[in-house]
Amino acid sequence: MTIVPSSPVSPAAGAPSGLDQVVAAETLLSHVDGAAGRLILRGHDLANLADWRFEAVLSLLWADLVPDAGDTDAVTKMLAAARPVAFALLPALLPATDGLSEVEALRLLLAALPDRADLPHHGLAVAATPVFAAAIARRRRGLAPVAPAPHLGLAADFLRMLHGEEATPEKVRGLETYLVTVADHGLNASTFATRVIASTKAGLFSAVLGGLCALKGPLHGGAPGPVLDMLDAIDGEAAIMPWLTAALDRGERLMGFGHRIYRVRDPRADVLKRAVSSLSAQDGRIRFAQSVERQALALLAARKPERALQTNVEFYTALLLEALGFSRESFTNVFAAGRMAGWTAHVLEQEKTGRLIRPQSLYVGPWPEGVAA
Ligand code: ACO
Repeated sequence: MTIVPSSPVSPAAGAPSGLDQVVAAETLLSHVDGAAGRLILRGHDLANLADWRFEAVLSLLWADLVPDAGDTDAVTKMLAAARPVAFALLPALLPATDGLSEVEALRLLLAALPDRADLPHHGLAVAATPVFAAAIARRRRGLAPVAPAPHLGLAADFLRMLHGEEATPEKVRGLETYLVTVADHGLNASTFATRVIASTKAGLFSAVLGGLCALKGPLHGGAPGPVLDMLDAIDGEAAIMPWLTAALDRGERLMGFGHRIYRVRDPRADVLKRAVSSLSAQDGRIRFAQSVERQALALLAARKPERALQTNVEFYTALLLEALGFSRESFTNVFAAGRMAGWTAHVLEQEKTGRLIRPQSLYVGPWPEGVAA
């Protein structure tokens, strides 16, 4: 890993500090071009990956970082073999998640993955996440977990473990597109957290658990549920502008809009919009959402002309995951199932090429008497 610049840079005291312009890693995995609205994963534009299987994208990301990873069939087999291993942990652990939110429950279950596991840790982490997420969602509905089916791909098995029956090919395709779309996204907050932990050699499970903890926040992966809350709260077409205006007047943020990097439309929003549009019976909901989107963008442009606030990935994520039958409480866990691809790849890359990440801080506290600042 290269830290650029190499000499310490201090933000001016009191300046907003979000490390915006700091390059903190070199990576082969993905590139986010915020000005052009472009996301590249290892040489491929996201728009060209939207039809790929999730296992093929894992294979792309893991290639050269671990043996055999470049072979999609080998990756598919490894994940199919790892899902039952995760499932076997559920009888002992699932009851302990009662009373927790779904993402808190996933945090508890991922924390229980043993560092001594025989299977490759990157495969077990990716395979375990949908097994755990589906079992947690079913338990919230009073239903027993459904055992994984090794003959299915990860996306198809995820929907089967959630609903108890095989999903239609169009729904499997919809989830596959979602998992691929969120697989990796530069040095976002959760991926950075993951790399920091990986840099201490704490191990892959500890690192990806840190990623999940960062993802959980509403400014990162916790937004799609609130997007649906917003759509539900707006009482018809005529109420859209008054509702949005009142929310901004109260100082609230409109969920599903704005991004730290993108200054144009988030390219993931369009991929997901196409995916949800291809699912039948969503027309009315999508038309209404598009109207909310149009009016929100107009209002944000008028209120914050200096900021270029655009639709982000979470807006159409909410509609797609709803159409696939996930409850809004499950959304962050489904995001984690996709982003686990990127987190694991960044851990592998960090372990292979990086060194301990240890930045400096600017001390702005009082100095002991007689010590000059
Ligand atoms: N609605 C209203 N105002 C907004 C929004 C929004 N969605 N986003 C930013 N702003 C405003 C801020 O209030 C701020 O205004 P101010 O300067 O008058 O205080 C200005 O735009 C700049 O905001 P920042 O916080 O500096 O923007 P930042 O780059 O840090 O925030 C973020 C990015 C957190 C995503 C923000 O746009 C937001 O809170 N959006 C809503 C939540 C959301 O959709 N999260 C999902 C993000 S996508 C992902 O992580 C996968």
